[in-house]
Amino acid sequence: MAFECICRKILIFMCLLTVSIHAFELGTERTFSFVNDVNLYELKLSTSQAIGYRTSGEIKVSTIYEDNEHGFLLRFELLSPQLYMEKFKVQPMDYDEKSSILDKYKKSIFYAYWKAGIIEKSFIKNTKDSSLNNFLRSILSLFQYQLLDTKTTEKDISGTCQVKYVAKSSTKFLKIKSDCTAIEQHERLDQPLGNEVKLTRVTVIETSTLGEIETLHSSDHHQFYINAYKHVGYKVGSIFYLKSDGTIKDCEVIKADNLENAIKTLEGFIETSILPEINFDKSTDVTIVKQLKELKENLSNEKVGKETSALALLKLLQTGRQSKAEDLIRIVNARTTKEIKGQIMDLLAAIQTEESHEAFRSTMNFTNEEEFDNIERYLQSLSVGVLPRESVIKNIFEVLINDNIQNEKLKDTLVQTIASMCKKFTNLPNQSYDSEIVVKFKNFLLESIDSCTNNDCKEIYIRGLQNLQSPNIIDKLVMLALNEPYQISVAAMKALNQFPSTILQGDKKQFESIFYQQKKKFDTSARTIALDILLRLKPETKDIMNFVSYLKSNDPAYEVKQYLVQKLKMLAEKCERFKEILQMVLSSDRKVYNWNNFGALKGLSTALTRKFSQNPSFNGSLISVQEIKGGVLKRGNVDLLLEHEEEKFGIFTLGLFAGGLSSFVSSDEEEVDPDEDTTATAGMELAVQGNYLRPLVFFSGQAQLMGHVWSGTASEPTSAYQGITMLQDHKQVFALNNGAILDFSSLGAMSMDLNGKIEISLWYKNANIEVVQNMGLALLSTLSVKSPLISSKIELSITQEPQINLASKVDFSSKTAICMQLTQPNINLTQKINRYVDIPESKKVKALRQEVNLKYKIPGYTHVLNQKNNDMCNAITSE
Ligand SMILES: *[C@@H]1O[C@H](CO)[C@@H](O)[C@H](O)[C@H]1NC(C)=O
Ligand SMILES: *[C@@H]1O[C@H](CO)[C@@H](O)[C@H](O)[C@H]1NC(C)=O
Ligand SMILES: *[C@@H]1O[C@H](CO)[C@@H](O)[C@H](O)[C@H]1NC(C)=O
Ligand SMILES: *[C@@H]1O[C@H](CO)[C@@H](O)[C@H](O)[C@H]1NC(C)=O
Ligand SMILES: *[C@@H]1O[C@H](CO)[C@@H](O)[C@H](O)[C@H]1NC(C)=O
Repeated sequence: MAFECICRKILIFMCLLTVSIHAFELGTERTFSFVNDVNLYELKLSTSQAIGYRTSGEIKVSTIYEDNEHGFLLRFELLSPQLYMEKFKVQPMDYDEKSSILDKYKKSIFYAYWKAGIIEKSFIKNTKDSSLNNFLRSILSLFQYQLLDTKTTEKDISGTCQVKYVAKSSTKFLKIKSDCTAIEQHERLDQPLGNEVKLTRVTVIETSTLGEIETLHSSDHHQFYINAYKHVGYKVGSIFYLKSDGTIKDCEVIKADNLENAIKTLEGFIETSILPEINFDKSTDVTIVKQLKELKENLSNEKVGKETSALALLKLLQTGRQSKAEDLIRIVNARTTKEIKGQIMDLLAAIQTEESHEAFRSTMNFTNEEEFDNIERYLQSLSVGVLPRESVIKNIFEVLINDNIQNEKLKDTLVQTIASMCKKFTNLPNQSYDSEIVVKFKNFLLESIDSCTNNDCKEIYIRGLQNLQSPNIIDKLVMLALNEPYQISVAAMKALNQFPSTILQGDKKQFESIFYQQKKKFDTSARTIALDILLRLKPETKDIMNFVSYLKSNDPAYEVKQYLVQKLKMLAEKCERFKEILQMVLSSDRKVYNWNNFGALKGLSTALTRKFSQNPSFNGSLISVQEIKGGVLKRGNVDLLLEHEEEKFGIFTLGLFAGGLSSFVSSDEEEVDPDEDTTATAGMELAVQGNYLRPLVFFSGQAQLMGHVWSGTASEPTSAYQGITMLQDHKQVFALNNGAILDFSSLGAMSMDLNGKIEISLWYKNANIEVVQNMGLALLSTLSVKSPLISSKIELSITQEPQINLASKVDFSSKTAICMQLTQPNINLTQKINRYVDIPESKKVKALRQEVNLKYKIPGYTHVLNQKNNDMCNAITSE
């Protein structure tokens, strides 16, 4: 067996030597026929509905020169190309017609210098038609092959690829290409908002015993899946089949004393790369100015929070990314966009080019107070984008340092935007947390914290660290959490909680020291956040035993204990293994707790997780965590998470905080901590796609509290956040094995309008809080394949308007009760699929236009929160 194997290898090796000599003997001419079948379809539609077409023809290859290194100059000529459609039965193109495309093809002569299986040089007519040139390059690429088991790097029409050759027999060889460079590619790394792309490129080459090509079967099979929607994706196949007709004729040769002189005789031909090229023809594109006229209505203020505005933004974005600053300036300055300035700011931010930033800078003035809302809207939307430009980060950083910004809110927002952008910047190719601009900004944050003279000032820069998430600042944050006053300690813990658990593992002891207050006292929020982190660090059985014995301790902070119980129960609900361990620990301690009375403790804090979206939409869950102190909310978060397999991505976080209110509300006897700040304060903290925004403070100080909220002025719903931000942002452009350019893009946007109202009555001793989160979601994805003869495209969109309503009734008349209700109304999810086929230069053939509409009804929910909440709701409503 082994002997046979070695023999085969030797045989193959000999073959290779003969290939270089005999495959293209000087003065010979060979003819190959070819067929190329292309199919593309959207997953939802069956293969029988694929857009399919075939091109066929002949290629004549003549060996016109041989140099003294056994390199050959080959002349290629393309003959009688044909195009067929509709399962290849119909031949729509009338090739007797004197159309321009026919002439173009008939004259398709091109040359290559071929040596030992590699196309070292190629020569084409100086035509500007990149589409035709790519087709010619694809033919040259077929003739690039090795007859050996080997791994190498090759350039061809697919890009620069890793290529593996496998000899199946002495005349049959496999060529497998992988990791090819794309013409253009960018993607979002957050997996739930990403795509799965599987590219397969395999060629089977069969040769004569002399190593001449007999048949060649090149097949590209590519699959594209959009992670958020299980049923959405595309498949594309292109099979290129080449067959020799077996005859060898004589041909004319070039007489020249070296290769250089031989090449000189090819008049009118220029040397070109075999890699694919594309030159964008923007002449026919609509301008953004014109497009905005059509979509203006769909971006009106009433449409924020609706799917139409999300979809309109995506449509404008595609044009916007190709637009010049002057056009973008025109749309900002247009009188007709005055009413929708906020949405225009979202658009500029989503475009994320240097041109769009220039449009912003030359129309907006940071010191103009009247424009503050719009400026902040731009900055907040900018922090979400996944393609931050270094020049834009630098520019905003300069504004922050040099422009002497007086407005504290603007300063805060600038810090948060730069931090978020720097974080995204580290994900770009060749960038990291060691990149110059990122290090510079990190140092700026650290210096600013040290030079602040008050805690509110420090908090701004600590939030900057929270958004930046540089692993180099963990130690600093831990120090702040351990040693600084409550306000700073809590801010540092919030920042730490943003980091992935792998990075926090090393500081487990410190978090235990905070939660158990081993060395000193901590704010209850610092403790509950430390607990959140400890529970993320995969607690072991002994950790769980420690938690349970803490519950029996004499710590008077019963809300912290309740919070712990709630979190343990939440984890047990989600994870069977955790539940087993917890039950085991509890049962070893039967006298104090068992599973059934676990949680029957004093305290109103809650923690729970519920599904808020599932098939046919994305998988999404909602996590609500409410830390209560003295009968009032101290720290509450509702997180919306998008899930894909094990990965989670927070698309929105609604946080509420309050402090110093207990004295107004409760007769509660919970221990008063003398270190705690008793200033009455309340506000909202929002994070859009993981980027924490400047907090919105409802009131700070007793005077504001009494004057503003308690008089009932906040009883009208007011908008807390409006904005349209990008979700999916993926583009990938490369050439198929036939030179056609495949362009896959998937863009998503979320249009959000969050509004709320608070009514507090001192007389009835109750409060009503309502928060309505309107979301319009849109996904716009296209897959197009363009070749010189035919261009095809599938475009699909998915739209929906999920809404979440949070209502909370608080009764603090006698014994405090809080009833929370979380509801989602019925919604429709709409999927539209459009299919287009165009035959660019023929007027005779009717192009295909097809639309498929699908609608899914998604029923609403009233989430069952927990038993304690139900009891309290019943208590409140029955009164
Ligand atoms: C959602 O979760 C279900 C159950 O785990 C899974 O079968 C499905 O593939 C998921 N859908 C998406 C879009 O990830
Ligand atoms: C604007 O939105 C409406 C639906 O609200 C839609 O019918 C219309 O096609 C949209 N306009 C454009 C130009 O997309
Ligand atoms: C910005 O506005 C301020 C006051 O509104 C004005 O003093 C300043 O000159 C303006 N700057 C620019 C660059 O337009
Ligand atoms: C990354 O760096 C390498 C080496 O410094 C360079 O060759 C390559 O072009 C860079 N890539 C990008 C995308 O900047
Ligand atoms: C969903 O679509 C149906 C018609 O197909 C319509 O009657 C219903 O009002 C829609 N629901 C929502 C919430 O838009």
